[in-house]
Amino acid sequence: MKEVVRVEGLRKVYGSGETEVVALSDANMTLREGEVSAVLGPSGSGKTTMLMCLGCIVEPTAGRMFIGGEEIYGDGSWKRRDLRRLRREKMGFIFQSHNLIPFLNVLENVVIASELTGVPRKEAEAGAMELLEYLEVAHRAAKFPATLSGGEMQRVAIARALVHDPSLILADEPTAALDTDRGKKVVALLKNLAKKRGVGVIVVTHDIRMVEGFDRVYHMKDGSILDE
Ligand SMILES: Nc1ncnc2c1ncn2[C@@H]1O[C@H](COP(=O)(O)OP(=O)(O)O)[C@@H](O)[C@H]1O
Ligand SMILES: [Mg+2]
Repeated sequence: MKEVVRVEGLRKVYGSGETEVVALSDANMTLREGEVSAVLGPSGSGKTTMLMCLGCIVEPTAGRMFIGGEEIYGDGSWKRRDLRRLRREKMGFIFQSHNLIPFLNVLENVVIASELTGVPRKEAEAGAMELLEYLEVAHRAAKFPATLSGGEMQRVAIARALVHDPSLILADEPTAALDTDRGKKVVALLKNLAKKRGVGVIVVTHDIRMVEGFDRVYHMKDGSILDE
């Protein structure tokens, strides 16, 4: 299977001098098409930093990062200029804070992610509704985010991350706001997507119950990956 992500000796240091924090230290990771990997570790171990680097949102300090075989970061700098486009076309983000757009309704929030990559409106709407139905929030399609429960907002955010068919899904504690059943359903959906569409999925979590049946589990502590 083709490689979606490869990280070699990745390092991230925040701040300098007295306030220096080594958030990521010599991290190695490979993810192939159709694989679901988990990054597991306690709070402060560097999980979110790892994900933000992979998402090209946070610039690493050293090491190398390849996405779809292309070197994205190396020799101390980004290797590609249009990181925004790379994110928009290839990646789907599911973060702790859902970041829904408050003045768009649920359907529009999902559709916009698809439209941004050039999918026609009608097609984008059909794809969005299909995902909203699967995630059991289709009945909220015409509502605004502020009127939803936390769990509903998270499920809408998940639909939005998936709708444009990304090749890499980066999920940071995606089930934190959900009850166990819904959480498991979300994990099952992500696994299914990986298998059916060859998407690579990385799920960051501190909840060991969620990582059952994952292809790989990376354990993190104090910025280091201990084992796989
Ligand atoms: N923007 C930042 N500036 C300074 N330190 C940060 C920043 N983000 C994270 N850190 C620090 O880096 C370490 C790893 O954080 P993080 O990646 O958020 O871990 P996790 O997601 O596992 O809780 C922590 O010590 C945290 O305080
Ligand atoms: Mg975190």
